[in-house]
Amino acid sequence: MPKHAHLQQPTKTSQQAKADAIAKAQDMAPDLSIHIGSTPETPFRGDPDIFGRLVEDHDRHRALLAMIQQTHGKSEDRQLLFKELVKELKSHAAAEEQALWSTVLREPTTTEDARHAVAEHKELDDMLADLAARDMASSGWLRRFAALKEEYLHHIGEEEQEQFVAAEKILTDADRKYMRKVFERRKNEEKAAVKIEKKIKLKA
Ligand SMILES: [Fe+2]
Ligand SMILES: [Fe+2]
Repeated sequence: MPKHAHLQQPTKTSQQAKADAIAKAQDMAPDLSIHIGSTPETPFRGDPDIFGRLVEDHDRHRALLAMIQQTHGKSEDRQLLFKELVKELKSHAAAEEQALWSTVLREPTTTEDARHAVAEHKELDDMLADLAARDMASSGWLRRFAALKEEYLHHIGEEEQEQFVAAEKILTDADRKYMRKVFERRKNEEKAAVKIEKKIKLKA
């Protein structure tokens, strides 16, 4: 029996789930090509619970990051995609903390995993505010953006391969389904309310 087959909801294949998530990002700028490259192996992609939902967002974020790297100067595409990326990353992180990490934090065996993920959210937030405050047309912008991309890919790769794996062990099927609903609701609310902070925070 495939892993998680007992969850009794239509499960997308891993490949289909990834293609759907990328297509969602592509809708925003159909002229840009997307090369997200290989993604770290994860058992969760396509699952009908919280973890499958989170990986779906991660794949969409991978696509947005790759698309922004293809843009130039202060173009309309770059402005539109960066704004969407900031809203996506901030609302995803907040809803992930509320739906998943808050519970995982309370279980002693996984406290460190949750703390690690949440601490990285704060670092990423600072990088986003820093980028938002800088001139998109300057030559340094894309260099700084590349650093954010690397940091974010590291963060989601680790979540998929380490922190989600540890968290899954302490959750029941019912927990994982319920958390998906909470995530969905909270993310929509958070995304509608996101304020794009602009503040230079980094020296290098
Ligand atoms: Fe995260
Ligand atoms: Fe995440």
